[in-house]
Amino acid sequence: MIQCPRGTRDFLPDEMEKRRFYENKLRHTAGTFGFREVETPIFEDAELFILRSGPNVLKELYAFKDKGDREIALRPEMTAPAIRMFVNGMSNDPKPIKIFYFGQCFRYERPQSGRYREFFQFGAELIGSATPETDAEVISMAAAMIRNLGLKEYKIRIGHIGVLRQKIADAGVPKERAAEVLQKLDKKLYDEARPLLEDMNVDSDAIDDIFSLTETVGGVEVLDRVPGEAGDWLRQVVAYLNAMGVVDVEIDLGVVRGLDYYTGMVFEAEAPSLGAEKQICGGGSYTLSELFGGEKVFSTGFAIGFDRILLAMEKEGQVYEPKGIDAYVLSVSDDVRMKAAEIVAGLRAQGISADVDIMGRKMAKALKYASSIRARYAVIVGAKELAEGSVTLRDMTSGEQTLVPVDSLASVIRQ
Ligand code: HAM
Repeated sequence: MIQCPRGTRDFLPDEMEKRRFYENKLRHTAGTFGFREVETPIFEDAELFILRSGPNVLKELYAFKDKGDREIALRPEMTAPAIRMFVNGMSNDPKPIKIFYFGQCFRYERPQSGRYREFFQFGAELIGSATPETDAEVISMAAAMIRNLGLKEYKIRIGHIGVLRQKIADAGVPKERAAEVLQKLDKKLYDEARPLLEDMNVDSDAIDDIFSLTETVGGVEVLDRVPGEAGDWLRQVVAYLNAMGVVDVEIDLGVVRGLDYYTGMVFEAEAPSLGAEKQICGGGSYTLSELFGGEKVFSTGFAIGFDRILLAMEKEGQVYEPKGIDAYVLSVSDDVRMKAAEIVAGLRAQGISADVDIMGRKMAKALKYASSIRARYAVIVGAKELAEGSVTLRDMTSGEQTLVPVDSLASVIRQ
């Protein structure tokens, strides 16, 4: 038997219905914040990601040569494609530009619970503005999305990558090697970061200083330890968030992020119930447009790991009940089958979701099938009732049956 490739999944109808339901909740929330949906190709020129995505994502890239000898990559994330799209076709639009996207991304990772090779992101980018209010707007939308999905246990941590980048540069780490160091710090691999820094001739006090910065966690008061603009910036971001009712955020200067393009505020949300792969959302402010041939434009964005957040909701006991269909039409005898076809067509034309027996089943078996597909009603078509222009409507939950004129069937079901 051929299985789906390692790290990918099939979504069966119940699962798919649930996913669409929650996707649409996210779309709705994005709409209430004034963001509009876009879509970009699933594959891009590999160069788009090689230019700036950082060592983590690059080694995980699904890249190949197409028949025209072009280096192509399946997208590992959607920020670079969104900014490419902005440079190609939106750069003259009035700023700020607020866009969101939903779709699959591909990373060649070692699959485990909550980590897939094909996974789905719901993300947003606010392009063309760089103010603390911009950052607060984006974080508050991420918070609203998580809240509106109904997840209860989560934590949002906000940091500033500029502070850490500066500290590393001041300690003498060459610019081109900063990513290597940040990658270790992102994963809190201090035992590996120390020899790396020593190798770059960073002295032990400076190393301790770097490590201690990444462990600066707490309320806004910890920003007293962050001198200069970055501290003031984050204080304002938090103040705006509070004004918008987002109070449950933590300052964490150890938020590093796995991607290279961030310049200022960075943030992550995690769901502790998920264990090792608990990060459900990540984002921050960055510039990418100048790398893709446009002018330098500041943006802030984030992406929610859709699969992970659904897993977290499931862990908290949230259950989605598939809706099923409104009506299932079945015939008591063969001579009314054509009439049953006419009735189901009439219901569908009036916007009722309806199905009809097409296998010539006897009533008991047809009713059993109707409950398996979660039909709310069975419409039982019999010759005797039809002679008076009626059918029997059976409530599939209570088993109650009533005679309903065919003409008013749709309106009765709708009620
Ligand atoms: P990221 O942190 O790499 O950021 O990914 C965002 C989210 O996608 C993660 O927090 C995680 O929930 C989910 N995710 C990542 N890899 C996997 C995987 N292998 N399986 C399941 N879920 C995964 C970005 O991608 C940035 N583009 C976010 C952003 C937008 N920054 C600015 N704008």
